[in-house]
Amino acid sequence: MAGLNCGVTLTLLGVLLLGATRPREAGAFEISLPHGSGTTVLIKPGPFTLPVKPCHIITSGKYVTTLPIKSGERKDFSFTCSSPQHHFVIEVQKDVDCMSGPCPFGEVALQPPTSVLPTLNRTFIWDVHAHKSIGLELQFALPRLRQVGPGDSCPDGVTHSISGHIDAAEVMIGTFCSNGTVSRIKMQEGVKMALHLPWFHSRNVSGFSIANRSSIKRLCIIESVFEGEGSATLMSANYPDGFPEDELMTWQFVIPAHLRASVSFLHVNVSNCEKKEERVEYYIPGSTTNPEVFKLSDKQPGNMAGNFNLSLQGCDQDAQNPGILRLQFQVLVQRPQNESTVTYVVDLSNEPTMSLTIEQRPLKQSRRFVPGCFVCLESRTCSTNLTLTPRSKYKISFLCDDLTRLWMRAETTLGCTEHRYCHRRSFSLRVPRDILQLPVQLRDFSWKLQVPKDRLSAALVPAQKLQQHTQERVCNASFSYLVASTSPGQDLYFGSFCSGGAIEQIQVKQNVLVTLRTYAPGFQQEFSKQGLTVSFIPYFKEEGIFTVTPDMKSKVYLRTPNWEQGLPSLTSVSWNISVPPNQAACLTFMKERTGLVCQTGRAFMIIQEQRTKAEEVFSLEEVLPKPSFRHHNFWVNISNCSPVSGKQLDLLLQVSLTPRTTDLTVVLIAVVGGGAFLLFALGVTICFVKKNRKKKKNKGPAIGVYNGNVNTQIPMQPNMFPKVPKDSDAHVYAVIEDTMVYTHLLQDSNGSYVQPEVDTYRPFQGPTEDCPPSPPLPCSRAPTAKWPAEEPSTGFSPEPESEPYTFSHPSNRNTDIPFLDAHEPVETGE
Ligand SMILES: *[C@@H]1O[C@H](CO)[C@@H](O)[C@H](O)[C@H]1NC(C)=O
Ligand SMILES: *[C@@H]1O[C@H](CO)[C@@H](O)[C@H](O)[C@H]1NC(C)=O
Ligand SMILES: *[C@@H]1O[C@H](CO)[C@@H](O)[C@H](O)[C@H]1NC(C)=O
Ligand SMILES: *[C@@H]1O[C@H](CO)[C@@H](O)[C@H](O)[C@H]1NC(C)=O
Ligand SMILES: *[C@@H]1O[C@H](CO)[C@@H](O)[C@H](O)[C@H]1NC(C)=O
Ligand SMILES: *[C@@H]1O[C@H](CO)[C@@H](O)[C@H](O)[C@H]1NC(C)=O
Ligand SMILES: *[C@@H]1O[C@H](CO)[C@@H](O)[C@H](O)[C@H]1NC(C)=O
Ligand SMILES: *[C@@H]1O[C@H](CO)[C@@H](O)[C@H](O)[C@H]1NC(C)=O
Ligand SMILES: *[C@@H]1O[C@H](CO)[C@@H](O)[C@H](O)[C@H]1NC(C)=O
Ligand SMILES: *[C@@H]1O[C@H](CO)[C@@H](O)[C@H](O)[C@H]1NC(C)=O
Ligand SMILES: *[C@@H]1O[C@H](CO)[C@@H](O)[C@H](O)[C@H]1NC(C)=O
Repeated sequence: MAGLNCGVTLTLLGVLLLGATRPREAGAFEISLPHGSGTTVLIKPGPFTLPVKPCHIITSGKYVTTLPIKSGERKDFSFTCSSPQHHFVIEVQKDVDCMSGPCPFGEVALQPPTSVLPTLNRTFIWDVHAHKSIGLELQFALPRLRQVGPGDSCPDGVTHSISGHIDAAEVMIGTFCSNGTVSRIKMQEGVKMALHLPWFHSRNVSGFSIANRSSIKRLCIIESVFEGEGSATLMSANYPDGFPEDELMTWQFVIPAHLRASVSFLHVNVSNCEKKEERVEYYIPGSTTNPEVFKLSDKQPGNMAGNFNLSLQGCDQDAQNPGILRLQFQVLVQRPQNESTVTYVVDLSNEPTMSLTIEQRPLKQSRRFVPGCFVCLESRTCSTNLTLTPRSKYKISFLCDDLTRLWMRAETTLGCTEHRYCHRRSFSLRVPRDILQLPVQLRDFSWKLQVPKDRLSAALVPAQKLQQHTQERVCNASFSYLVASTSPGQDLYFGSFCSGGAIEQIQVKQNVLVTLRTYAPGFQQEFSKQGLTVSFIPYFKEEGIFTVTPDMKSKVYLRTPNWEQGLPSLTSVSWNISVPPNQAACLTFMKERTGLVCQTGRAFMIIQEQRTKAEEVFSLEEVLPKPSFRHHNFWVNISNCSPVSGKQLDLLLQVSLTPRTTDLTVVLIAVVGGGAFLLFALGVTICFVKKNRKKKKNKGPAIGVYNGNVNTQIPMQPNMFPKVPKDSDAHVYAVIEDTMVYTHLLQDSNGSYVQPEVDTYRPFQGPTEDCPPSPPLPCSRAPTAKWPAEEPSTGFSPEPESEPYTFSHPSNRNTDIPFLDAHEPVETGE
């Protein structure tokens, strides 16, 4: 039989490679091993010899049962029987010494070639010795290797046994068949590989190569590559015996992007640990908590997308009763289960500036494992985040068991470069349908509006009035608009606005960034009703102008832009606040003096009655105006100085409406007409009566020139006194504790203005949210009756200067307000 193998080619090979020559007769062999090849050959009886008919090796005329051939030797031999494969096996061992010389890396050849060997079961053994610090990598050609358990055999009879060393001890890494997923095995400190080829197998190549690597700092790393669906069963070193004490072994898995991997432990035993804990650690793409640490008794992760690795860490065992650590596990790679196979088309081909990013929402830190969640382009390339750029069309799908773990952010730029063309043009801010249809929460959609500099400004007009998010009145809608102005060098955050408030319009001086931020999945319904229209309007100088039309339903809270960081230096903001007829607006400043200290310039606020143009000016470095009632549309204009750092300007306005009923007017007239005595008779406390003050003529620079942008002009002291219409000389003011009297007036038709506080009058004491005395109030504890003598019954004319509560000017020396004087810092300045 052996003779059949002999031929010219084989002889040639034999001569060239190892000096084996052509057998002289049929059934005769010659094996010659060169000096220094480190190779030895041993022909010996196989483990399963057939006892029936004995067979011998004949060499040098002798009958032997084993034939060793050493390096540098040449042996001629033949067999006494015709089928020696049933009696003998051949073992070829090659020692590779990487300690004393260079390691022969690369493809490993079968030497002597199988063609010159008798057709016996052959075992080729490579024993590679290397320093501890050298990593050796065995690379296996296709069809790769499949690990089998002890006692399992390979269908084609070809097995690979791989072992390593820890110091003197040999450690079995595993037994592998052909046709699997194991592509590489990295070891340290040498490796021993035994390739067993049965006599009937025609394989003539080793099928692997060796490369050197840097230290792997562990016992070994086994890499498995999955080309498609499938599974692999793998075992800890020495399985089924114990994993070496305090060792670390890693398995790496390469998984196609469109598939998912699940790990299950088939057989686990843990040892008795004295120090440290036995555990497995995973590195999983998409996990924010890598490494994911699991106990061996835990349920292991499933549905992982992407490449991952798994490490087994042993412990210091109890020497008396070490127990045994061993692990057999399976990795199952399959198509994603329970996941959408829907493909979504996102067409941005007509969107020159729109981009969309889908990404993982930040996870709360938790040690709990979360399977991967991926977005795929064309169902092929999947990643944890994906950015779609403008001018293309995309097909995307999701590999994610829980789509709420993703969100998306989109942005687009709307520009106007030619101001003549854009003036008065408007367009509404819409989210494209392609984006709304995606099964992922839209986190943000940002419109960057570019406005021609110094030519135009932008006006944002919501379909329904907006509310500014404040601590006092939080937005709980399913979405908000975040508005910021963006000019080079200065971004100014106006705030977050949701529907259901009083803001009719937000005008922004410069480029605007409007971000739709959603909070609840159902935002689309609300959003369809609440659009936002942008139009280009003539340029103005304030950073922003808010148009506010309060209603009776609720208080309005308004914050200065850049809340918490402070209004930027030398900027101005205005609020156009309208007051419906027959109502009074209570204007309160809720953050009194945030500690603003100006470095240069002055910070001031002008409250201007729109009808009469009467103005009151307040220095914002001093005490803020007291709450006051306004009966006609008015402006609140704020202009900042350049503050000392850390002493910034943050101001919160509160506006609430109260009805001015005829009844009330009558009562108030009665009160005034009857004087204090009548009030006492009514059981109402008169807190104080203030005579009208002489108006101060303003001879200083016109305060009405509002300092739009750069605040260089300091309102002069005389200006601190409000300008006053000529006809407002004689007024009487009364602060009364009238909640008991007017309780019935406090209620609107819904009865929503209830709960007037029935307590005794308290004078203003520093910061207060109380409204000044006036018509009833949701805002007033001590309403003030006030009216001009000349217009007793029709609308209250604005007498800003005569409000004892609304100014903090430097002098109140000619006032006679004992309560106030007693409690307010008295400044003199006139
Ligand atoms: C040779 O290998 C085959 C397959 O592994 C086995 O069945 C057979 O018993 C072996 N022969 C001897 C002599 O060991
Ligand atoms: C490899 O294994 C697959 C299934 O595990 C089988 O279909 C295929 O025939 C095998 N190929 C070889 C060469 O053994
Ligand atoms: C192995 O055998 C194939 C044919 O089966 C032949 O083409 C190849 O050259 C051989 N390789 C070696 C190293 O003998
Ligand atoms: C591999 O071996 C060569 C020479 O033996 C050496 O120069 C090289 O640094 C080694 N590479 C690694 C990764 O150890
Ligand atoms: C190993 O664990 C199995 C359960 O997984 C248990 O039945 C068996 O007794 C354990 N063996 C040893 C030696 O601890
Ligand atoms: C396991 O994966 C992580 C992340 O990919 C990587 O940083 C680490 O080096 C890997 N470890 C091993 C031993 O492969
Ligand atoms: C898959 O979906 C089915 C029905 O939708 C559900 O019963 C099952 O529990 C799901 N399986 C997983 C692993 O989520
Ligand atoms: C998105 O993924 C890329 C790589 O795929 C990564 O570099 C980038 O940091 C990721 N961005 C976010 C926000 O996760
Ligand atoms: C928002 O809060 C108001 C009361 O403050 C409540 O009436 C309304 O139902 C809330 N809306 C949502 C969506 O929670
Ligand atoms: C102020 O607001 C009112 C009410 O919305 C509006 O009619 C008026 O035009 C506004 N004034 C300015 C100057 O925008
Ligand atoms: C307040 O600001 C508005 C809007 O810019 C402006 O029309 C008005 O004249 C200003 N009032 C004063 C007194 O500066």
